[in-house]
Amino acid sequence: MKKITIIGAGRVGESAAQILANEEHAHEIVLLDIREGVARGTALDIQESATLFGFDCRVTGDEDNSAMEGSDIVIVTAGLPRKPGMSRSDVLDANLEVVRGLTADIMRYAPDAKVIMVTNPVDVLTYAVWKQTGWDRSRVFGLSGVLDAARMASFIALETGFSIKDITTMVLGGHGDSMVPMSRFTTINGIPLDTFLPEEKIQQIVDRTRNGGAEILALKKTSSANDSPAAAVATMVDAVCNNRKRILPCVAILEGEYEHSDLAIGVPVILGNRGMEQVIELQLSETEHRQFQESANQVKKDLAGVS
Ligand code: 2OP
Repeated sequence: MKKITIIGAGRVGESAAQILANEEHAHEIVLLDIREGVARGTALDIQESATLFGFDCRVTGDEDNSAMEGSDIVIVTAGLPRKPGMSRSDVLDANLEVVRGLTADIMRYAPDAKVIMVTNPVDVLTYAVWKQTGWDRSRVFGLSGVLDAARMASFIALETGFSIKDITTMVLGGHGDSMVPMSRFTTINGIPLDTFLPEEKIQQIVDRTRNGGAEILALKKTSSANDSPAAAVATMVDAVCNNRKRILPCVAILEGEYEHSDLAIGVPVILGNRGMEQVIELQLSETEHRQFQESANQVKKDLAGVS
């Protein structure tokens, strides 16, 4: 990839830019932020780490969205973060307005880009960008399950003492309280999770996963998570830039899968150089199906305000 733009030089945008520069997924990374000097200062700070991390990627910042010109990937992190006690949906109206303006600029300056949404509520805002651009669903997708599944894996590693390298997890549904951590699809080196943990402990991990973002926000108080979301975004960018055909849970637009169309929600997808290349439809148990539909209904409620 030649150029990646990150809109929003807040903590998630900054952490993502540093990781993407270190991993050299593009020749150029542009950070954008409306706050005077913030993107330029953050980008310069990251650029000055180049010799220490050994990357030749060029990192620049700007206040003018025209600097995203010709980007291959645009990552949208800009918007109001939620405060302790708020749900991700509580920032919908404010962030929808921000994202609509940004989308117009993405269409104008990066008409061939793939868009990775991070701003919350990410399911709804992924839908809003897809609707406004009119682009194929392969080009507009969002960060949800890669982050949630990573949290679930961490909780399992902490509980079992096993290496994180052997833990595979799956989380479906909206990126919120109704998400569906899929313990049935969670294994430790292919061995089902319930071989090692009793159902009660698994449910505790499922509940902690659902509350993962809020737990960090309650501890940090003035900001939500940034390191794990940034690492999750970088994982998605790596899969696209290197055409890895990875199977990862992301927010995708459904076209009949899981009994839904015209809906953006977290499902397993194949990520490769064409972006979100395919939605993978799992055979869900009755309980998983009910939970997924409940989550879909929650996202649909938020979608009601988005034409
Ligand atoms: C989280 O769950 C910010 O939604 C992101 O931390």
